[in-house]
Amino acid sequence: MGAIIDGKQLSLRLKGEMADEVKALDAKYGRVPSLAVILVGENPASQSYVRGKIKAAEEVGIKSELITMPADTTEEVLLAEIDRLNADKDIDGVLVQLPLPKHIDEERVIDAIAFEKDVDGFHPANVANLWLGKPCIVPCTPKGVMQMIAECGFSVAGKKAVVVGRSNIVGKPMVKLLLDANATVTIAHSRTQNLAEVCREADILVAAVGRKHLITADMVKPGAIVIDVGVNRDPETGKLCGDVDTASAKEVASFITPVPGGVGPMTITMLMKNTIECYLNRINK
Ligand code: GUN
Repeated sequence: MGAIIDGKQLSLRLKGEMADEVKALDAKYGRVPSLAVILVGENPASQSYVRGKIKAAEEVGIKSELITMPADTTEEVLLAEIDRLNADKDIDGVLVQLPLPKHIDEERVIDAIAFEKDVDGFHPANVANLWLGKPCIVPCTPKGVMQMIAECGFSVAGKKAVVVGRSNIVGKPMVKLLLDANATVTIAHSRTQNLAEVCREADILVAAVGRKHLITADMVKPGAIVIDVGVNRDPETGKLCGDVDTASAKEVASFITPVPGGVGPMTITMLMKNTIECYLNRINK
């Protein structure tokens, strides 16, 4: 039976280390890193994510500001708020929680965030730099996944990795990070033929689709490391569940991440790392 990779525990350790780092940075530079989070509307899942981000910032000693805006906020008003935060020299990170209400163009909003304050790593300049192998802010979820894989002592170089899901936020950057770690990477998605067969080839299987229990035990290669990025609500129980049927897949995998308590906490923890990185980049500019 495979070992569970406890993202909550790993996050606690990393946040503890960052709290010490922030204290030292404050002593050296006379201020702590600061993060502004904008939430538009009242999507309950977004409210919960944002609460988690603000709480993590408190734990690490990062100054945070939560800006809530009503669901009918115009794009113009949101862009003006981003401009204000971009210009504020005391703010190191700006994050706009996604998804945005339908009348707002998400791409325009992401483009408006100063790329040096783009703690999500979603701005086209950061995306381009990631793919060009230049210094950049790496999106939090795939960054957290790499940290979890490293934590298991699982060596990635030369192994076969399959990423199921091709989103800009997770799937695509995940592919690049695995490639950078010298894995042989396949990207699979909803139109992939023989998905089970493709997945069974994977030494490292990352599921990031958003479909409850899409990955079953028969799709897992014995001894594989299985990373479940999915966050789904089970319609029967109302509980959170992932893209992987963990109960059966853990019998086959060597390591597996749970939902909740796996990738989710690590994403938030990596946001803290990215905020510190933006702070240091701005100080050293
Ligand atoms: N919505 C879901 N995941 C994310 C994320 O990582 N960042 C932002 N800004 N919004 C999200």
